[in-house]
Amino acid sequence: MHDALAILRATDTPPELFRRMAVRISLLLAAEATRDLPAAAVTVSTPLGPAAGTRVNGDVVVVPVLRAGLGMLDAILELIPTARVGHIGLQRDELTAVASRYYSKLPQDMSSSFVLMIDPMLATGGSAVAALDMLREAGARDVRMICIVSAPEGIALVERQHPDVHIYTPVIDDGLNDHKFIVPGLGDFGDRLYGTH
Ligand code: PRP
Ligand code: URA
Repeated sequence: MHDALAILRATDTPPELFRRMAVRISLLLAAEATRDLPAAAVTVSTPLGPAAGTRVNGDVVVVPVLRAGLGMLDAILELIPTARVGHIGLQRDELTAVASRYYSKLPQDMSSSFVLMIDPMLATGGSAVAALDMLREAGARDVRMICIVSAPEGIALVERQHPDVHIYTPVIDDGLNDHKFIVPGLGDFGDRLYGTH
């Protein structure tokens, strides 16, 4: 995990490698975040006889926050292929860093679903709180979030506004700079993911 994170942070990492490291970290984080996913005992037949196992049992909804969250989605679907997918579009204003909504398409009835919100960067926490508000308004109850790099300010805001949402993150950086970017962070995740800077 931390090896991949070092590659992700490095300025000279090209988008292709950046994407692969984002997937690798997301897989590891998702495995941790879904450890207590409801599961049912099953028996399967191996070529040599019956074997006890468990299968995911229950509705899982994954919600990437556009656009950077899309870089984590394939990893989660690799782990939970049956998951339903909702999308939330948020864009931080470049000057004020305030997030505004531009898109939302969420699955019906999430009241008994296990909801995993994915967004790689938790900076001021404004985007995360806006997305969590939208999930709550849509009826989601069991919500957790996965971030690749977090700032103390963002964690504090989410904990204040949504105290029941567990945050899974491998690292908490020093803080935010004057432009509300995470320091040391990795820069603009979406731009690095898609080569748009
Ligand atoms: C980034 C990131 C988060 C947000 C974090 O998205 O993916 O959604 O910023 O910052 P915050 O905690 O201060 O709200 P951005 O708005 O840059 O959009 P993008 O994913 O389309 O690049
Ligand atoms: N969004 C990013 O992509 N990076 C930051 O450091 C803060 C917000």
